[in-house]
Formats: sequence, structure tokens, C-alpha cells
Amino acid sequence: MNARKPWIKPVLTAHKPGGMNKFGPARPQLHQSEFDGAALEPLLAQYGSPLFVVSEKRLRENARQLRRAFSTRWPKVRHGWSYKTHGMGAVCNALHQEGAWAEVVSELEYRKARALGVPGSRIIFNGPWKPDAILEQAMAEGAAINLDHLDELYAAEGIARRLGRKVPVGLRLNFDTGYSEPWSRFGFNLETGAAMDAVRRIGASEWLQLNGLHSHIGTFVLDVRAYAQQARIMAGFMDAAEREIDCRIDYLDIGGGFASRNALQGIYLPPDQVVPGLDQYAEAITEALTEATRARSGQGKPLPVLVLETGRAVVDDAEILLTRVVGGKHLPDGRRAAILDAGVNLLFTAYWYNHDVRPLRANAGLAEETVLFGPLCMNIDQLRASVMLPPLQVGEALCISPVGAYNNTQWMQFIHARPAVVMIMQDGRIETIRAAESLASLSGPECLPAALQTPFPEQPAR
Ligand SMILES: Cc1ncc(COP(=O)(O)O)c(C=O)c1O
Repeated sequence: MNARKPWIKPVLTAHKPGGMNKFGPARPQLHQSEFDGAALEPLLAQYGSPLFVVSEKRLRENARQLRRAFSTRWPKVRHGWSYKTHGMGAVCNALHQEGAWAEVVSELEYRKARALGVPGSRIIFNGPWKPDAILEQAMAEGAAINLDHLDELYAAEGIARRLGRKVPVGLRLNFDTGYSEPWSRFGFNLETGAAMDAVRRIGASEWLQLNGLHSHIGTFVLDVRAYAQQARIMAGFMDAAEREIDCRIDYLDIGGGFASRNALQGIYLPPDQVVPGLDQYAEAITEALTEATRARSGQGKPLPVLVLETGRAVVDDAEILLTRVVGGKHLPDGRRAAILDAGVNLLFTAYWYNHDVRPLRANAGLAEETVLFGPLCMNIDQLRASVMLPPLQVGEALCISPVGAYNNTQWMQFIHARPAVVMIMQDGRIETIRAAESLASLSGPECLPAALQTPFPEQPAR
């Protein structure tokens, strides 16, 4: 006969979220009810959802921090604001007021800078396609033009001949720093000799004068050693070019690419731990440049202006996106999903960042793994594959950040009109810097041929 097992009193142990487990303590439930001193729920109530909110103060502070980091370490520094990173007039002008030139990469961007009041002489003109008319205007107006390829060099030479004067030009270079994936599609390659051939070509020209070098080694570059190497290579090439032809290089433009405090997908540690500060970038670059130009200083040659085209590191954390939950569901695998009124149509960068997402109000509910979908009728419209969030009610507002870089330039009006963008001004007032689109503003440029005025011909025209 089996011995009877002793009875053991059952014990109920409360499940305690937040305690230690093998993944460490659970994240405290964060919420964000204001940004730069402005309460967010009233902003949504006034301007509607979704809504982009830019902080003018943060923008200016970031630009000043960049300038301070570099100008305390190198005598001549210039910041060219990258219009492709955020091209809205209010953002550009705030940065121009901080002393930044315009860095443009297309005819449209050049015209935009001019329309904002930026003189051609404070425009840096990059990019692989500069149509003749705008190239001529830029050359006539004294823009800093960085040539991308030989056909453009020949076009510039023809324009200078027409203008009847020798025009200064820069060359865009590409090369391998050994630290980040080389971008070889823009500019003239150093390793193959194409860059030095272009230098000789300019040297042989009656109409062009080489006065600058440019390169952009990539974007969201986390390793400051990549920039130090870029600076060394460019300084070496500057000396070589000056030996090769009769020229004086006035500027070394190192492009953009400093990482912002955003969470790149695939990177395990939080941005605060992996993203170098602007001082760290500045220290690495200027130290390498000082070393590489030591001989030059000894020969009494002037030091080049160090040009920065820093985009995302200046604007990213100066903007947030507010969105509301429009519905929720459970997926067949058990995960909870929330559908938001903002999707990848507004947040293109969701494809490579895990943005920070927080409810506007404090919520004591238990956090659960949640998938965030946008409102597009498209499978790819997913803002976060997995984020721990408390229970979300329909109508509940979320704050997504940082979103200042590349979203307002790469957004689209697919299915939904784009929402308003407001700016919290330095004095705390709120200003609309881009009105919400409407059916009328979107259909405005469309034309209906006479025969297609009505959808059903049997009905009279509207
Ligand atoms: C030529 C050039 N300059 C500047 C930038 C701005 O880069 P970021 O926003 O990463 O600083 C870019 C972006 O790709 C670029 O192509």
C-alpha cells in the first residue's frame, strides 16, 4: 500500500512586477505629459491628432552646443544646415539665426534657401544632380559648390566660361576610413585616383579654381575614430592637391552623420550609453586635424575652415510626434496590438529606429508587450514591433520621440493628409509652422480634363 502523502498548506504568492529577474528590473512606467514646458494634452485638443511639436529652444541650444564643441577646438568652423534633414522654413531660419549656412542638395532646396532669404554666398550646394540653370545661378551667386562627378565638372566649366570669370569650386571625395562602410556613389574616389584626376582637370582649366574639399562618410556613425580618419585623409589630400596644382584649399567639409540620441534597431544598449557626445566627435576630429596640419602651420599656410553639415544630431531631439490610439486588438499569437492615427506615412524613421514611446498620462496598469500599428491599410505600417506599454484606452495619447530628423522631409500623404506641425517658441507661445493638409490643399494641383469632370456621365456635372 502506498503511504499517504502529507498535506501541505498551499501558499499564494503575489506576483510582483518590477522585481529582479534574469533580465534585470522591469522598466519603470514612464509617461510624458509635457515638452519644453508645454502641456501636451491641450496641444492635441487644440491642433488635433496626430501632431508634430518642435522646440525652438532645444533646436537653438543644440546648434550652439555643436558650435561650442568645435569652435573651442578649431579656429575656423562653419555649420551648414542640412535641409534634407529638416527643411521646414521655421526650423531652417531658427538655425540660420544661430549662424548656420544652408546646405542643400537639389534645385528645390537651393530655391527654398533663397526664398527664405539666405544669400547664395551662404549656401553650400551638394548632391549628384545640379541642373544647369540652378548651377549657373549658384555659381553666379557665389555659392560653395561641391562637384560630384566629371560631367558636372565639365558643365561647371562651361558655365564659368559663359560667365566670363574663373569660379571657385570644391570637390566631393569618397574613400575608405576603415571604420564605417564606405559610400562610393557620391563624389570622386580617392583610392582609384579619380579624385586626383579631377584635381588635375581643374588645375588645367582656365575657368575653374579648386578651393575646397568635401566628403560625407555616412550617417549615424557611432565610431568617432571614423571621423578622425576622415579628417586625416582629407588633410593629406589637401596637401597633395596643393602640391599637384596651383590652388589653395580654403575649407574641408566633413559632411554630417553624427548620431543623435535615438535607438537604432539592432543596437542593444540605450542611446545614452552608445551615442558619443558632440564634444567627443569634436575632440577626435580636431585632434586628428591639428596633427595632420602641423607641418602646414609651420609653413605659414592658413588653416582651412572646418565645415560641418550636422543634421540629425541637431534636430532629432527637438521634435516629438503626438498620436492617439484609435483601436486595439489581440493578435493570433497572443500579443496585444494598438492601432494609432500616425503610421510610417509620418514616421519614416520607424524602419530603422526603436523610438521612445510613452503615454501622456501616468498609468498604473501592468505593462504588456505591445505592437504599435499605424492607420495605413498596408501590412508594413508598423511603428514598433514590440514595446512594453500599460493598458491603452481608445483615445489615449502617446508621445513618440525623438522624431526631428528626416520625418518631416520623407513623410507622405498616402491615404491620409499630413497633420500640423507646431513650434514651441522661445517665449513659450505656440505657433503653427505647417498647417495640416486638407483635401483641398492636396487636390489643388490636380486638373480634371473636361471629359472627366464627373464620375458618372449620366449625372450632370457638379
Ligand atoms: C551631403 C550630406 N550632408 C549632410 C547630411 C546630414 O547628415 P546627418 O543628418 O546624418 O547629420 C547628409 C545626409 O545624408 C548628406 O548626404
